[in-house]
Amino acid sequence: MPKLIVVDRSGAPHEIDAEPGLSVMEVIRDNGLDELLALCGGCCSCATCHIYVENKFAASLSPLSEDENDLLDSSACRATGSRLSCQLPFHEGLDGLRVTIAPED
Ligand code: FES
Repeated sequence: MPKLIVVDRSGAPHEIDAEPGLSVMEVIRDNGLDELLALCGGCCSCATCHIYVENKFAASLSPLSEDENDLLDSSACRATGSRLSCQLPFHEGLDGLRVTIAPED
């Protein structure tokens, strides 16, 4: 199974099995990392699933939609690599993807 590496807010990395077809948010949530609130359940309306994605994987990710971009703009923590994890379908090509959970807004 491909791996996803999630760095939590304390800086600790967690290597978890990631099922292709789930979103990155679902993979993180289903593995018990509760820092990622994902309050809207993946509807792209809350921004509580904000993560930072390693630059080398940027080209393998689904493109940023206008809605996702607008929501990220509402975050004081937006930075290079910012994405909403519910908008990122995980696939085999993302094996080894490393993401960091953004601070709470
Ligand atoms: S879970 Fe709400 S925007 Fe991603």
